[in-house]
Amino acid sequence: MELMNAAETPIQAQAAAKALLAFWRAAGVDMDVAEAVYATSAKTAGPARAAPPPAPKAPVARPRAKATSLVDNAVALAKSAQTVAELRAAVMGFEGCALKATARNTVFSDGVDDAQVLIIGEAPDRDEDEQGKPFAGAAGQMLDKMLAAIGLSRQTNVLLSNTIFWRPPGNRAPTPGEVMTCLPFVERLIELKQPKLLVLMGKAASNTLLKREEAVTRLRGRRMSYSSEGLALPVNAIVMLHPAYLMRQPQQKRLAWADLLATQAWLEELGVARVP
Ligand code: URA
Repeated sequence: MELMNAAETPIQAQAAAKALLAFWRAAGVDMDVAEAVYATSAKTAGPARAAPPPAPKAPVARPRAKATSLVDNAVALAKSAQTVAELRAAVMGFEGCALKATARNTVFSDGVDDAQVLIIGEAPDRDEDEQGKPFAGAAGQMLDKMLAAIGLSRQTNVLLSNTIFWRPPGNRAPTPGEVMTCLPFVERLIELKQPKLLVLMGKAASNTLLKREEAVTRLRGRRMSYSSEGLALPVNAIVMLHPAYLMRQPQQKRLAWADLLATQAWLEELGVARVP
């Protein structure tokens, strides 16, 4: 396959390769292989040459190396942020997650930056992608009602974010690589905020951040803790059923209600001020 023809400048060739990647991703192509091809094309897109580069024969070893350097870049960038505002700017400028090529907006956070409660969801959907805010659609409206029931609100005392910052095409599940490149920013957000309570919405957020593979129905409603290298002390954490799941399974709302009451009791013990 040829990703650069003689008439293209290196910049044009990279843009074309990126667009092709986005197309492949949306079409469900195995992106480990696709990204290996892109990595090869980006690397070889140096000064214009008469002959196009030879097709990569054995791309198998490349994805891991590329993924590692993307994660390393993300870690360095995230660590350089000293405030939530700086972290937001770092995420906005980050080009290491291929999802950015197909998304309309970067979706980093909504709510109050210095809130004592931090909620992490899964991924932006269509409404979030359009508005650039987490939980902007129907699941977000349900979340707002759940929060209001226990004196929490994104206008006053909650900050919301997600495990990834760009909408996956067609709302497919994010790949492990996409999650890994966003994770350093999510971890840094928790480090910078050191919230009194971290609320993990659904399986993706809880499994990613608690580093376990367990059904959300087994994790929900329990007093847990989140630790990371950058934190001197663990952070209190609780898992809840995701509002999008509750919309699909309304009979599970009674479990969600029990979790909300457990959260309310914990917030009280932690002295978190709530909206009356
Ligand atoms: N679901 C999420 O987990 N996050 C959003 O931002 C929207 C829907």
